[in-house]
Amino acid sequence: MNLKTVRLQLRFLLPLVATLVAAAYLAAPLMDQVTLRWFSRDLNSRGALVANALSDSLAEALLSNKVARLQSLFDRTSQDERLFAIGLCSPEGKLLQKTDRFPSSLSCVAALELSRHAESTLALTGGQVLVGVHDVMGHRAVAPQAVDPAPGVLPDEAIIALEAQQPAELVQAPPVLLGRLVLLHDLSFIDRRSQDTRRYLIGLIAALGFVIAVITVVVAQLSWRGWVNGARAIMRGEGLLSPLMPAPELAPFAADLRARLRDLEDEYRRSQGPEAEWTADRLRALLRTQLSGDQVIVVSNREPYIHERSESGVVVKRPASGLVTAVEPVMRACSGTWIAHGSGSADRDVVDARDRVLVPPGQDDYWLRRVWLTPEEEQGYYYGFANEGLWPLCHVAHVRPVFRESDWEAYRAVNQRFADAVIAEARGEDPVVLVQDYHFALLPAMIREKLPQATILTFWHIPWPNPESFGICPWRREILQGMLGSTILGFHTRFHCKNFIETVDRYLEARIEHEHSTIAFQEKETLVESYPISIEWPDEAEVAGWAPVEACRRRVIEWLELPVDVCLAVGVDRFDYTKGILERLNAVERLLEKWPSWIGRFVFVQVAAPTRGALDEYRSFQERVQRTSERINERFGRPGYQPVHLLAQHHEHDAVFELFRAANICVVTSLHDGMNLVCKEFVAARDDLQGVLLLSRFAGAARELSEALIVNPYHVEETADALHRAATMPVGEQRERMASLRSTVREFNVFRWAGRMLADAGRWRLRARIEARVRRSGAD
Ligand code: F6P
Repeated sequence: MNLKTVRLQLRFLLPLVATLVAAAYLAAPLMDQVTLRWFSRDLNSRGALVANALSDSLAEALLSNKVARLQSLFDRTSQDERLFAIGLCSPEGKLLQKTDRFPSSLSCVAALELSRHAESTLALTGGQVLVGVHDVMGHRAVAPQAVDPAPGVLPDEAIIALEAQQPAELVQAPPVLLGRLVLLHDLSFIDRRSQDTRRYLIGLIAALGFVIAVITVVVAQLSWRGWVNGARAIMRGEGLLSPLMPAPELAPFAADLRARLRDLEDEYRRSQGPEAEWTADRLRALLRTQLSGDQVIVVSNREPYIHERSESGVVVKRPASGLVTAVEPVMRACSGTWIAHGSGSADRDVVDARDRVLVPPGQDDYWLRRVWLTPEEEQGYYYGFANEGLWPLCHVAHVRPVFRESDWEAYRAVNQRFADAVIAEARGEDPVVLVQDYHFALLPAMIREKLPQATILTFWHIPWPNPESFGICPWRREILQGMLGSTILGFHTRFHCKNFIETVDRYLEARIEHEHSTIAFQEKETLVESYPISIEWPDEAEVAGWAPVEACRRRVIEWLELPVDVCLAVGVDRFDYTKGILERLNAVERLLEKWPSWIGRFVFVQVAAPTRGALDEYRSFQERVQRTSERINERFGRPGYQPVHLLAQHHEHDAVFELFRAANICVVTSLHDGMNLVCKEFVAARDDLQGVLLLSRFAGAARELSEALIVNPYHVEETADALHRAATMPVGEQRERMASLRSTVREFNVFRWAGRMLADAGRWRLRARIEARVRRSGAD
C-alpha cells in the first residue's frame, strides 16, 4: 500500500474513529443514568417485597407494643448484601427500632421526605444508599359497647349475643397506619456494575469500530479501483464513442467528458476566426496536414468521364450531373481513386488490367476505377430500386415510389460489389471513403464490416423526407442501418438532417444526441451534419478566357434564330419530373397571357438533358413537356418567333455556359431539390453582374441564395409575376442582387463543402488515433 492509498484510507478512517470516540464519550454518562434508574426501580420493588414479607410481624409487634422483639428479625433481614440498614418508625415519626448501620443522622421525617423524591439517594461515608419507606398497616382492636338487654331478654343472653356480634364488627374496621418501615438499600454495587458496563460498552464500540473500519477500507479500496479503472476506460474512449458504459455510476462523468470534447472542438473552430477562402490549394493542404496524406476513395454511381464510341473514334463525355460537377474538382485536388459504374460504350476499351484509367484525359490527376454491371443488375439496382423507389420516395414530388423485391435484391448485390471494389482499392486499413448518394445506402455498413478503421463520409445528394413519408419503404430499417455505418453523414440542409434524425428515432433503437447531432447505433457513432454542396468558383485565368457577354448573346441569338431584342430566359436541367419544367412552362404561358406585350420579345429556352429514359414515368413526363411546349408555341408563336425552345438533348459544358451568359433570366423551379447547382453555375457565369435568378423555394439553394427571386413553382400566377418582374428589373437592382449572390457562391464553394467534411473527418480520425494510443498505453 503506497502513501497515496494510506492517505485515502485515512480520509475514511479518521472521521469514523472520531465519531466512535464521541459516541462512547456521550453514551457512558447516559448509560450510568439509565442503569441507576433501572436499579433504583428494581431496589424499590425489592423493598416493597421485603416490607410485604415483614408486614404481619411488624403489625403484630406494633399492635402489641413489643417492637423490641423485632431486632433479631431486622438483623437477619439486613444480612442481604443489598440491604444496608432497616429502621422502624412510629406514625408520628419516632424511630422505634433499627439495625446497627442505620445512620443516627437520619430521622424518620427526613427519611420519609427523601423517599418522596424521584432520586431518593443519600450519601453516607460508606457510599450511596437508596432510601425507601413502606407503610405498615393493621387493624386496631375496637372496645365493645355496653348493651342494654331488650325487654324480656335475659342479661346473660345479651352478653352471648354481643360476643357473637363482636368479631364481625372488628374485621369490618378500616386498616390504620401502624408505623413505617425504612429500608436503606446499598447502592455501591450499582457503581461497580456501572463501571463494568462502561468497560463492556467501550470494548463493544472499539470492536465494532474495528470491524467497520476494516469493511470500510476494503470497500473503499475496491470502489476506488473500480472507479479508477472505469475512468481510465472512458479516457481510452470505451463508452465515450460507444453507448456501452464501463460502469453505470460513471455515466455522468462520460457525458461531461464527451460534452467537454465537443466544446473544445467548437472553441477550436471559433478560435480559427472567420474562414479564409477555400481553394483547391487549401483543400490539398488540409489533406496533407489533417489527413496526413491518407488515401481518399470516392464511390458514386455516375462516372465523371464517359468514353463513348463514335464515328470519329472514342470520345470523352462529361455527364449532366450535379454530383459530378461538385466532386470532380475535389478529386482533381486530392488525387486518389474514384470508383464508379462504367456505363460508356467504349469504357472497357480504355481501362488497364485492373479496370482503371487515369483522368481527366491528358491531365491524369486521379484514377477512375470502373465497376461493370450487367443490364439486369443495372435495371434492378439503378432504374428499379434507386430511381423508381428511393428517388420519388425522397423527393415527394407526387410520383408514387415503386418497391420490388427483385430490385431490392439487385440493389443489395450491387452495393456489395462496390464495397468489394473499395476494399480491393484500399491500400491500408483506414482509408477515407467518400460515398455519394442514394445509390449506395447500404455501402457504408458493408465497408465498415471489412474495414472497421475506415473513415466513411456519406453524402446524400437528394432531400431526406419526413419519417412518415420514408416509412412506406419496406426496407427502411436496412437502409438506415446501412447509412449509419458512416462516420459522417452529410445532407445539404439542416432541415434534411433533422428529417433523417427523426426517421432514425422513429424506426431504430439508437441513441441520439440532438445537441451534437450524433447518432450512436450498435456501439458506433455517426455525426449527421449539413454541408451545402456547391461548384468550383472560376479562377482569374479561366475568367480571362471567357467570351464577352455580348458575343455569347450574339451567338445564341444566331444559333436559335431569336429576335435581336429578345428577353431570354433559360432553364438547364436533366429531363426529370422533379425539376418543375412543366410548371415553368405554365408560368411562361401565363406571362404571355397576362402581359401580351411580351409576345414576340420573350423567349424561354429549356435545355433538358435526357435521363432515365428507360422508365415509363420519365418517358411520359418528357412527352407531356413536349406537348405543352408545342401548345404554347402554337398559341403564341408567329412566323420568325417561337416563345419556347425545348432542347431535349445533351449539351456540353461550353454550350450551357454560353447560354447562361447570354440569358436575362435563369429559371430554376424544382418541385423538390437537395441543392440544385444549376443556379450556382448561372451566378458564377455572370461576371458582368447582370441577369436575374428565379429560384424555387423548394430547392436547397434557396436557403443560401436569398437575393434570387424566390417562387413557389406550384403557384403559376406567382411564378408568372416573378418572370415579369425579372424581365423588367432595372440594371442597378440586377447588379446589386447578382453581386451579393456571387459573393455567397464564391465563399461557399465546393472546396469549402469538401474541406469542411474532410476537416471534420480529420478531427474524428485524430480523436480515434489518440484514443487508440491511450488504449494501447493502458494495456501496457
Ligand atoms: O440530384 C442528385 C443526383 O445524384 C445528382 O447528383 C445527379 O445529377 C443525379 O442525381 C443523378 O443522375 P443520374 O441518374 O443521371 O446519374
